Amino acid sequence: MSRMSRAVIDVDGTKRPVPIHGPEAFEGMRAAGRLAALTLDHVTPLVRAGVSTGEIDQAIERFMREHGGIPATIGYPHREQPNNPFPAASCISVNHVVNHGIPSFEKKLKEGDTLNIDVTVILDGWYGDTSRMFIVGRPEKVPVKARRLIKTTYEAMWAGIRAVRPGATLGDVGHAIQKVAEAQGFSVVRDFVGHGIGRVFHDAPEVRHFGKPGEGLRLEPGMFFTIEPMINAGRAGVKILPDGWTTVTRDREPSAQFEHTVGVTEDGVEVFTRSPAGFEQPPYAS
Ligand code: MF3
Ligand code: CO
Ligand code: CO
Repeated sequence: MSRMSRAVIDVDGTKRPVPIHGPEAFEGMRAAGRLAALTLDHVTPLVRAGVSTGEIDQAIERFMREHGGIPATIGYPHREQPNNPFPAASCISVNHVVNHGIPSFEKKLKEGDTLNIDVTVILDGWYGDTSRMFIVGRPEKVPVKARRLIKTTYEAMWAGIRAVRPGATLGDVGHAIQKVAEAQGFSVVRDFVGHGIGRVFHDAPEVRHFGKPGEGLRLEPGMFFTIEPMINAGRAGVKILPDGWTTVTRDREPSAQFEHTVGVTEDGVEVFTRSPAGFEQPPYAS
């Protein structure tokens, strides 16, 4: 996800044109999106107590490269700190970490943890960006609120995706997401947004996960972007840790996120990053 417009703007639909892509771009995105989704499928059995997030990241990088992909996040520049590029092939964000968690061999998963794994792969120049939530161990060991948060975040993402069609606006998309989250008493993170994507990682437009119907950019066939709501169980406020990347909830309540990369078609939406294994939301196996 991209940081929302503050002092420095890296994704801003009002300042950059929104690319319109043709059929060969859809082909490229199908392949890149599929590899990103397969990468998450591949590491799903590794998500268990005692495994470190560093080990999962290592498996992610190996799988991408074995399939002709390049991990897009390794060396990704920090927007304010020139000497602090992102160091890993994935972001792994556990419990109250909202996003951009840095994988580490010191960070071992334990039963009852919830986590987001976010991968972006470059395949033949096209970017596929997707994330899912995972739970560690037996579902009954995960606090009920966290389980409800994950389910709600999944449903919110899909409500946003279902709102995508030519003639709809990004306000319609954001509103659909916000409505699902807030109906459960949860809050939408404002500080990060989805983004245009294609032959670049973060492009216009900026895709807010909240909004008003009828407002914002009007969607046209050939637009590509991510929908990646971050929903907090408590308040929406976040802060960034001293490592410059890891974002956590201010109130230390859990956070959840799912992400798909989509394209606007003539009659609706195509999701490029669906799981070939059918891993939609946790638990993924018994
Ligand atoms: N994959 C993230 C997104 O959804 C971006 C991660 S950039 C990184 O946009 F540098 F933090 F890896
Ligand atoms: Co993204
Ligand atoms: Co992502």
